[in-house]
Amino acid sequence: MSLILAIDQGTTSTRAIAFEVRDHDLRPVAVSQIELAQHFPRSGWVEHDAGEIWSATLQTCREVVRQAGGVDRFAAVGLTNQRETSVIWDAATGEPLHRAIVWQDRRTAEVTARLTAEGREPGVQSATGLILDPYFSATKFAWLLDAVPGSRERAARGEVKLGTIDAWLIWKLTGGRVHATDAANASRTALMDLKTVEWRDDLCVLFDVPRQALAAIVPCAGRIGETDPALFGRPLPIAGSAGDQQAALVGHGALTPGDAKITYGTGAFLVANVGAEPVASTRRLLGTLGYQAEGRTAYALEGSIFSAGSAIQWLRDGVKLISESRQSEALAQSLADNGGVYLVPGFTGLGAPWWEPEARGTVVGLTRDSGPAHFVRAALEALAYQTRDLLDALAQDGAPPLKTLKVDGGVTANSFAMQFVADICEVEVERPAFQEMTALGAARLAALGVGLISDLQACPAEAPACWKPRMRPQERDRLLSGWRRAVKAAIIAAP
Ligand code: G3P
Repeated sequence: MSLILAIDQGTTSTRAIAFEVRDHDLRPVAVSQIELAQHFPRSGWVEHDAGEIWSATLQTCREVVRQAGGVDRFAAVGLTNQRETSVIWDAATGEPLHRAIVWQDRRTAEVTARLTAEGREPGVQSATGLILDPYFSATKFAWLLDAVPGSRERAARGEVKLGTIDAWLIWKLTGGRVHATDAANASRTALMDLKTVEWRDDLCVLFDVPRQALAAIVPCAGRIGETDPALFGRPLPIAGSAGDQQAALVGHGALTPGDAKITYGTGAFLVANVGAEPVASTRRLLGTLGYQAEGRTAYALEGSIFSAGSAIQWLRDGVKLISESRQSEALAQSLADNGGVYLVPGFTGLGAPWWEPEARGTVVGLTRDSGPAHFVRAALEALAYQTRDLLDALAQDGAPPLKTLKVDGGVTANSFAMQFVADICEVEVERPAFQEMTALGAARLAALGVGLISDLQACPAEAPACWKPRMRPQERDRLLSGWRRAVKAAIIAAP
């Protein structure tokens, strides 16, 4: 019984990975993945089918259990998930009552704009660490309650449940016996008090979300519930859970103040460990919970970029300038420089530090000789400029100076992009050899939760690939001022 079943329910796919635990070292031994359908019913709307998420979770888990030699080899389940995505379901039937509203969805922008105009943001920010933006779950929950007739009253009676994907999967995995959400996920709803780690009644009233519909908040490691025996042949303890960016923090071993990681996935999320007390950002970063485990709470500052890898996907699937993502490296390198072309990937608005939900994707600086390579290079360069904006905000917020920037996610295979991040951000970039930091973090939390490991700090790190800054300062300054002009254009382009 030395295996952990890690579930990584992400924006574009659902994955299960079996990790073998030897001392404090966790190694993957089996993996299964299923892509997830994306629904775009209107401009700015993004939905997932929560039923599809559950069946893919079950299917990938069963496949991994089979590959790894059967359920008796497993000690626990660890869970990690796309975070703010919001689900509504019927407590009696366990069926979703609406498609899930994905974190990228902007449909509640008018609500958050109204609350901002009413002067509500400082209160929300000081209570939750978050700013007012449609990104977070509270306005998504309220929208779902408005959309499903009678559900607000039923929610107040406990007949209708709300939750982020962790809560939804815990409900389904436990056969409807446990309605729980981990503290890291709860910190993304705009309903949780960041200091006390409890739901706030005043925020439930402000956003019109009945508290009775919300899950119990639990630590990220510890016994959360047991899987329904019918699912895998015998019950398994669910012993770890954290939102994916926080799980990646644990996977990277970024456990002390000054440690930071950025995951370049669909979006990109910089999470910097700030220690045992929350830090109030003055630069529009998010105060968030890093993880709660080993009897302590680690806080973080986060910068959320909504489009990172999705800009490369757009080049491939949208405008079809490349047929495979990995072509982007050679194309970018075929140019001596960016030719003054900048791409601001505001496809779903701009996140930190700008928070412009109505901004749009924008390309500036085109000339008659601009070609596909300029678009590709501009999309890759944008990863670095956006990262720089976040690191500047972090420094201005007084966060401890970064030791190195730990990176993971699909785009980090692109050496051009990683060197450019090191150059533009003036920081040493480290990429671990094993890339599944999110699943690894969830597995470590679950291993801790059942006592297979005793100390997160004792988990070993492998020698990473490194990129050191080497760009001349004048060149960096010139590029950054071009980027800032382009961001202004993207904000002006808002409809
Ligand atoms: O906040 C959204 C984030 O957690 C989504 O992550 O990896 O599914 O794009 P990912």
